[in-house]
Amino acid sequence: MSVHVQNTRMTTSRLRMMKQNGEKIAMLTSYDFTLASLVDEAGIDIILVGDSGSNIVCGNQNTLPITVDEMIFLTRGVVRAAKHGLVVCDMPFGSYQVSTEDAVRNAVRILKESGCDGVKLEGGEEILPQIKRMVQAGIPVMGHLGLTPQSVNQFGGYGLRAKEKAEADKLLRDAKLLDEAGCFSIVLEKIPAALAAQVTKAVSCPVIGIGAGNGCDGQVLVLHDMLGLNQGFQPKFLRRFAQLAEPVKAAVSEYVSAVKDCTFPSEDEQY
Ligand code: KIV
Repeated sequence: MSVHVQNTRMTTSRLRMMKQNGEKIAMLTSYDFTLASLVDEAGIDIILVGDSGSNIVCGNQNTLPITVDEMIFLTRGVVRAAKHGLVVCDMPFGSYQVSTEDAVRNAVRILKESGCDGVKLEGGEEILPQIKRMVQAGIPVMGHLGLTPQSVNQFGGYGLRAKEKAEADKLLRDAKLLDEAGCFSIVLEKIPAALAAQVTKAVSCPVIGIGAGNGCDGQVLVLHDMLGLNQGFQPKFLRRFAQLAEPVKAAVSEYVSAVKDCTFPSEDEQY
């Protein structure tokens, strides 16, 4: 089934209208021009240049090492590709926690130097001053609650969050604070579906879930995970919409054989 792709660029106000009209929002990550072009042509609403690029692109163990400069580099290519989707860049660990001034300065840099449409930050009440100042400065901000991977060392792993009442209550409170502070959207990662549905009803901005059930206003996945390129990772919430690792390996292996047995290039493939 093909999706009708609108010619106009996605905006934060259109996303809000989609929530009001009950139209689901589709978001995926991308980290480079070529794949982002395909993702955009296929009709995605939001492209996230996630700090998951730290794992996916750079091969790090977690999202902590990636820098503002590296995020800007990745985001530039994605912005050049996006004709329709709204491009959001993750603010990396350390770029917004130290002070409000630092956070706004880094967000402004990301917007100016990458050309993206907005930034995403992990956390609730603790980073509310930063979010408020960014919104006042005219920067579109997406929140991120639940399993916030930049806090993996504090959490001690990537397990389900907000199972207990105290954490669930804090998450609901945080979501309302982010909404009131002017976030244009909130990502909820790996929390119980019932809680995610409750948050989605309680806030006016669109809520995008990953491992948060189908009661959210939209869904996000990491592109390389849903394409089956990232073989080692299989959490319950991940649906693989393709299995591309094997075809890629088979093509490379065929190429290696063709080079080694001198069948590539053929007469037709040379000048
Ligand atoms: O970095 C990322 O890819 C993300 C998504 C999982 C939401 O934050």
